[in-house]
Amino acid sequence: MNRYIKRIIATALSTVVLFSVLSAKEIDTKRDKFVESLISKMTLEEKVGQMCQYVGIEHIKEADAKKIAANNDSHAFYKDLPTDSLIEMVKRGEIGSFLHVVTAEEANKLQGYAMQSRLKIPIIIGIDAIHGNGLNVGATIYPTPIGMASSWNTDLVKQSSKETAIEMREMGAHWTFTPNIDIARDARWGRVGETFGEDTYLVSMMGKASIEGFEDNNLTVACAKHLVGGGESINGTNAAPTDISERTLRELHLPPYKIAAEIGVGTMMTAHNELNGVPCHANKMLMTDIVRGEYEWDGFYVSDWMDIERLSTLHRTAENQKEACFQTVMAGMDMHMHGPNFLEPVVELVNEGRIPESRIDESVRRILNVKYNLGLFDNPYTKTGDKTFSKAHKNTAKQLARESIVLLKNSDAILPLSSSYKRVMVTGPNSNNQTILGDWSTLQPEDNITTIYEGLKRVAPSGVTVDHIGIGQTDRFFDLDLNAMDKAVDKASDYDLIVVAVGENSIRQVNGARTCGENIDRASIALPGEQQQFVEKLVASGKPVVVVLVNGRPLGVEWISENCNALIEAWEPGSFGGDAVAELIYGEFNPSGKLPITIPRSSGSISAYYNYKPSTFFHPVVDQKRSPLYPFGFGLSYTSYSYSVPTIEGRDVTVTVKNSGDLDGKETVQLYIRDNFSQVTRPVMELKAFKQIELGANESTEVTFTITDNMLSYYNLDMEKVVEPGKFTIMVGGSSRKEDLKSVTLVVAK
Ligand code: GLC
Repeated sequence: MNRYIKRIIATALSTVVLFSVLSAKEIDTKRDKFVESLISKMTLEEKVGQMCQYVGIEHIKEADAKKIAANNDSHAFYKDLPTDSLIEMVKRGEIGSFLHVVTAEEANKLQGYAMQSRLKIPIIIGIDAIHGNGLNVGATIYPTPIGMASSWNTDLVKQSSKETAIEMREMGAHWTFTPNIDIARDARWGRVGETFGEDTYLVSMMGKASIEGFEDNNLTVACAKHLVGGGESINGTNAAPTDISERTLRELHLPPYKIAAEIGVGTMMTAHNELNGVPCHANKMLMTDIVRGEYEWDGFYVSDWMDIERLSTLHRTAENQKEACFQTVMAGMDMHMHGPNFLEPVVELVNEGRIPESRIDESVRRILNVKYNLGLFDNPYTKTGDKTFSKAHKNTAKQLARESIVLLKNSDAILPLSSSYKRVMVTGPNSNNQTILGDWSTLQPEDNITTIYEGLKRVAPSGVTVDHIGIGQTDRFFDLDLNAMDKAVDKASDYDLIVVAVGENSIRQVNGARTCGENIDRASIALPGEQQQFVEKLVASGKPVVVVLVNGRPLGVEWISENCNALIEAWEPGSFGGDAVAELIYGEFNPSGKLPITIPRSSGSISAYYNYKPSTFFHPVVDQKRSPLYPFGFGLSYTSYSYSVPTIEGRDVTVTVKNSGDLDGKETVQLYIRDNFSQVTRPVMELKAFKQIELGANESTEVTFTITDNMLSYYNLDMEKVVEPGKFTIMVGGSSRKEDLKSVTLVVAK
């Protein structure tokens, strides 16, 4: 191509680039001008109105109907505020946001009231669309985040978020209170299933993928939560105090927020708990100094549910609601979740001169920026579409379910199941119900769900009989029907093999029956109720037993692990979880899931996480094996992979991975690093990178990682992030287990 033509192309390209840069710049300028002009017209009440969020009117009616005695963590109503007054408040511009609005019809009604206000500022509607728009009947339900993380497939997680965003907008919601990027360091916590697990790097990558999915093309806005440390609270109970060092805070808990800030997440939510004596909702160091100052984040904060009130009613750092409002706004809070007793005190505080109006303008600006980016000023109304529960979304949910399931044990390669097992018994409390949906999902239409039994019925080869043997009621796991379970055990002799689905129940709708989920923390991580005994009796029948776990938190199923023939960790795999479990059992796909969290042997070894400090097990306990039940990063395949000893050239580490079996498969190659000697103690290993590769039978491939300074750095004695010269052990393999890793030494010169 001659030089002349090249120059024309180069000019054209640079014009396009310049235009696109200008257009991005122009949009911001256009938005800023619009927002500043709007703020200049607003009264103080209208400004603070933008900082007020209420629950939806239908939600209130439902709470009334259910005669909910008082506000609780998932239902609310406003005692002295009839819904007509709420509508008048919207028309006066005193409410800027709603949550728990789950129909397009109600969303449009609320927007209509807002369009009658003086300045016609649209409402932003938030919802907990954690793994699909689960509070909406008819939504596509994807695996819960712990399962998403088990796939290690950031692209697929991003895709599921994009699809959830589409389904949210079809329902009239614009803002999801996800991703939960808490670092889960205590298996007793009921919300582990909502997190991406125990590892800072994996949580960061999954949080990033989720945010990018939701905020793609500004379709919806995400919410990085809960800032910070709820996954390491005392006793593992939700909202209990977290008391950790600044070093642990900065090494483990804050990095996912730094990345979320860097990619410009639209909102963040502060945590229920106090952090080192200061409630997160009044924590200026966290909210303003670190996240806004150091990370340069300019989105808006929303409080968690009634946590501003709790500064006074629970933490007692404020003597009354007005002082609580003062503390939280001055710490950096932008929006109150939820209800009255915020607008008036804040207006008073501004009129008294205790809160500068400029501080209110900051919050209003951040909130209006998000509403502008969402396109709500152009069109606040939603138009229902036909993408909810569409074929494309269902396919993604099923593929993610397949990749989220972790095969933990497969003795004598009993799986994939041979058709020689002619009569298969399916039983257990999670074998034929909607517990596979997990928390933050309402009960879905039966036709939209495939239970484990239904999946096995569909997938089993012809000539194989699959029978479901019930065990009575399976809502309340703590009082299962012992007689019904014994009757089921008696039937075992009629079958060649048993599939038993046990675990937990996180379904929010089935009140009083949950064993896991938000505010359902347990002192024990054993199977709830008599499930363990039930499995023991099934194993005692002498028939081969395949155990499927459906659960949010890790379960210390040591006896089952040692005595069953196969053990499958399905987590809460969503709408098509039953299909995915059945297809794994019958070998329709080769499992690739890997644990994003350590499975402890019991509640006595909760701090079993893989990236422990060198002295942690200097004197291991005497009444339990030292190793975890299953380690971080572990998961079996129906094939096997072998790794060469890594080579190192400069900062590039290369390993050859071979699929030594006769089945194609997907392997997650993990890279861990240890700083061999350091000024401050360092973990024995830390995940710093991972790559997923597809390998055909007997194929091999080279995988190269580039070791960056960021991977080698840590906070030294002076809390400065440094890379110290010296030796680092670089480990590469298919899990964090020693026997799965090959290593090489990297020397960093002075
Ligand atoms: C709850 C949860 C939070 C959720 C919010 C709104 O208390 O802590 O994660 O987003 O309320 O439902």
